[in-house]
Amino acid sequence: MSAPVPLIAERFRKQFQGKPLLVVSPGRVNLIGEHTDYNEGFVLPGATDKVVVFAVAPRADGLCHFVSRDFNQEFRCELGRFYRSPLRWPDYLQGVLDQFVKAGHRISGVSCVFGGDIPIGAGMSSSAAIEGGLAFAINALFGLGLDSLTLVKMAQKAENEFVGVRCGIMDQFINVFGRAKTVLKIDCRSLGYEHIPFEREDLRIVISDTLVRRELASSEYNVRRGQCEAGVNVLRTHDPAIRSLRDVTLDLLREHRAELEPVVFRRCEYVVRENIRVGDACAALARNDFTVFGGLMNLSHAGLRDDYEVSSAELDALVEAARRVPGVLGARMMGAGFGGCTISLVEAGAVPEFEARVARDYEAQMGKAPKIHVIRIEQGTRAVDLP
Ligand code: GLA
Repeated sequence: MSAPVPLIAERFRKQFQGKPLLVVSPGRVNLIGEHTDYNEGFVLPGATDKVVVFAVAPRADGLCHFVSRDFNQEFRCELGRFYRSPLRWPDYLQGVLDQFVKAGHRISGVSCVFGGDIPIGAGMSSSAAIEGGLAFAINALFGLGLDSLTLVKMAQKAENEFVGVRCGIMDQFINVFGRAKTVLKIDCRSLGYEHIPFEREDLRIVISDTLVRRELASSEYNVRRGQCEAGVNVLRTHDPAIRSLRDVTLDLLREHRAELEPVVFRRCEYVVRENIRVGDACAALARNDFTVFGGLMNLSHAGLRDDYEVSSAELDALVEAARRVPGVLGARMMGAGFGGCTISLVEAGAVPEFEARVARDYEAQMGKAPKIHVIRIEQGTRAVDLP
């Protein structure tokens, strides 16, 4: 990973004065627990060795000057006079600064260069990496002393309020709290969490990117949230203690099936089942039973495809191609869906065959090659020195 750090530092040195703070902010994988976070359920993500690197320094002139090294684009605005940009990437950064300004923190404008190697829009949370990384940097640069959970919530609100996606808390949470070689079981209601070792010399996490990016993702995402809320509103009339799908059992849901629109029932059933699967997956991890764990990943995909309906032909093709390779324990789409990538749990020795066969099968079916990454789970957002 360390390669991007000198590149970002060098770009900062060329363009701005002073010594910047360097921050490394990871993307995320999610082993299981998809579309459960905003239903106050459970998720099981890990922070990745694919990262966004920031070089940030304060400025005296009240300006915010952002440079995206990857897009080779720049954006300037006055601190506090933020505006939506057609470039889109500045909105994630402005959204974070907006949170600091709104909360009344004393900060100045900044010079900021950023870039990295998280595939953008692939469902690996490059957006949360940008938000979490800048929130961490601002907190450190201005000595604000905010705790990690406050930064997580500010990063999430940046996306909810400024970007306009009603995302849950998973991505920003793992971005800040991630730890090397472990996955994080997050209770998205209490925000309690548990680091669970996730390391086996003989297994690899493999991400396969469809390279399909769909604008649909954010609008459909908000639609799914609305459907879950619609289900909760009906079920709550029977039990006022029900605050979210987290409180709903399969039995209760089935009992009231007739009162729910069929599509709402399917969405709710998926979420209730997925929460159960996260619990089962953690129990399997405790037994070191990765065969059961992989099987649960497969079931998660089926639910996302058939009941939650957030998969796509490309994602299904990648999942099916992956499962044809001997040594694949499980495969599913990852993240919000519609495009982006899949996650597969693969025996280390099977990775070369996976790369060759999945690429070949997908290309034969879809007419283009996927991009395949073997991922390591690393620490969450942190300050670094030049190597
Ligand atoms: C996106 C959101 C997360 C989560 C996932 C789906 O990544 O940012 O909050 O809802 O989709 O699990």
